[in-house]
Amino acid sequence: MKINIELLKDLERTIDTINPEKGKIPIKILGYGEISLVFEIVDDPLHLAYKRIPIFDSVRQVKRHVWAFDTYNRILREDLGIILPEQEAIWFKDEEGKIQFYIIQQKVDTEAVGNHVIHNVSDQEVETLILLAMREMKKIWMLNKTNENLDLGIDGQISNFVVLDYNPNNPKIDETKKLLYLDTSTPMFRKNGAEAMEAILFLKSAPSFLRFLLKALFLQEVLDRYYDWRLVTIDLLANFFKEQKPEIIPLLIRRINRFFKEEAIDFNIEPITIQEVQKYYKSDKTIWVAFQNTRRIDRYIKTKLFRKKYNFYLPGKIKR
Ligand SMILES: Nc1ncnc2c1ncn2[C@@H]1O[C@H](COP(=O)(O)OP(=O)(O)OP(=O)(O)O)[C@@H](O)[C@H]1O
Ligand SMILES: [Mg+2]
Repeated sequence: MKINIELLKDLERTIDTINPEKGKIPIKILGYGEISLVFEIVDDPLHLAYKRIPIFDSVRQVKRHVWAFDTYNRILREDLGIILPEQEAIWFKDEEGKIQFYIIQQKVDTEAVGNHVIHNVSDQEVETLILLAMREMKKIWMLNKTNENLDLGIDGQISNFVVLDYNPNNPKIDETKKLLYLDTSTPMFRKNGAEAMEAILFLKSAPSFLRFLLKALFLQEVLDRYYDWRLVTIDLLANFFKEQKPEIIPLLIRRINRFFKEEAIDFNIEPITIQEVQKYYKSDKTIWVAFQNTRRIDRYIKTKLFRKKYNFYLPGKIKR
């Protein structure tokens, strides 16, 4: 993959993490999750998407992460046949000696990313999209079932899937469509029960005064959730609240329960109920809103009171 590392170093020198689109090198935000900032460089002839993940303190830590990233993605692609973008993990030390880590991917058309697609196709087609996502996930849990000492997790949210050969001017989804999986930067797998990725990294974007508390309260729960197909599915469903499409959830639940009965019978998964999805959404929302608010406070303390750099980009108020 062709990457201009000097450009990235230049970007690191000048990035404004509070207003990232206003820095010297013009970037445009493609999306953000809770930790990474995903952007493109304006007029980039290479058409790349950059995921900036500022969580590493040591070379040992980042090397381990690159290993976990490579291994996880090799399993997804080669063993399971899941389609991934062309991508690479890179890191370097910036001028201050701090480790900067990026996942760089070939850029996909934003219109074809699942959370955009669901607003532009019929309910029937959203149902089909979800079915296709469930079939991708089945590959993961088939592997988990047949491998005693290996467990894979995945984040099944609809914003992580891209519809290939999608025409935004004539949007259509049917069962012949292929999906690409984007969210490859968190390598979730366990060998003999041991997490490949250093678990504490999940919390790195939390204010240090909170990390201890979050670790004690939520870390294991949040991690385990990605290894449990039923919970991953509930998470996928609950996201339709955040996407402002709650009315479609009952339809999707019925389709998913049928999928579990017809196509995944060997996994013995109990039917999902709307009450569970609602309850999950409420608790998840509470956790994330509290998390984002304390991060804003932390940023204020660092930048305004101590005049230090705040390394994470915080999205504006997310409508949930
Ligand atoms: N290769 C890409 N091309 C175009 N847009 C992308 C690409 N990768 C990601 N995006 C956009 O950015 C969003 C977030 O990316 P991704 O899912 O990889 O990270 P994330 O959810 O932020 O992960 P985390 O929360 O673990 O930090 C995607 O939903 C998508 O809209
Ligand atoms: Mg994502």
